[in-house]
Amino acid sequence: MSTLEKIIEDTVRRIMNEKKRSIPLVVANWKMNMTLGKAKDFFEQLTYAPYPHCKVVCCPPYPLLYPLVELMKEKGIALGAQNVHEQEHGAHTGEVHAELLNEIGCEYVIVGHSERRLAGETDDQIAQKVKQVISHGLIPILCIGETKIERDQGIEKQIICNQIRSGLSEIHPNEYKYVLAYEPIWAIGTGETATPMNVQEIHRYIRELLTTERGTSIAASISLLYGGSVKADNINELLRMEDIDGALVGGASLSSDSFEAMITAVQ
Ligand code: PGA
Repeated sequence: MSTLEKIIEDTVRRIMNEKKRSIPLVVANWKMNMTLGKAKDFFEQLTYAPYPHCKVVCCPPYPLLYPLVELMKEKGIALGAQNVHEQEHGAHTGEVHAELLNEIGCEYVIVGHSERRLAGETDDQIAQKVKQVISHGLIPILCIGETKIERDQGIEKQIICNQIRSGLSEIHPNEYKYVLAYEPIWAIGTGETATPMNVQEIHRYIRELLTTERGTSIAASISLLYGGSVKADNINELLRMEDIDGALVGGASLSSDSFEAMITAVQ
């Protein structure tokens, strides 16, 4: 590729990605909740969907993915999975591979959620999962975040830096189809939210890290989500900060009322 072609390609890519980042991304993580019946009711009860001002993704438990894909499409909500296996396929009882997730209509996959890290998922597995997800045309949402003890010790940036470097270690440096979700563990499911200023400081740090290690164009295009007790009351304040591009939401995404109140609160 000539230098001119490279410049044109980089410019087009940057413009497209900046546009992509220009509307907020809100991802619902249902964790181990819901049933098929409740999930169908949930989507049918949404009054305002599709939402033109937000990109909305919902990540139900595995068995609900395929039965919900059409209903979610009608509502303009993209399908995401909560996990994936790090290998292509094979004798791994109970696991699911990325190719299958793609085939049934998933677009996103949450990788390295702190609840999975706590259950023993290693940095190496997470890096392989990110690679698998990307190689099957899906977008990984790589979760990172420090514990309360790490924050009290003042080492949160170091922890986050290590998690990002390690999580992205198996993909090409020019890859840009991924999302990072900063979720301080002490704020997940506790009702305790990091302040918008706290989150902005960390997100700015992440953006600078990406700029140094992956280049300006990629750093500008990556959506940085915040997760940890996000709800209708605080989402707008958080998303007003320059480097907070969206939210990863657990508890508040479980009822259609609070979910929709949250989406409509985003301005
Ligand atoms: P929460 O969960 O919104 O219930 O705090 C967020 C998450 O774990 O992704």
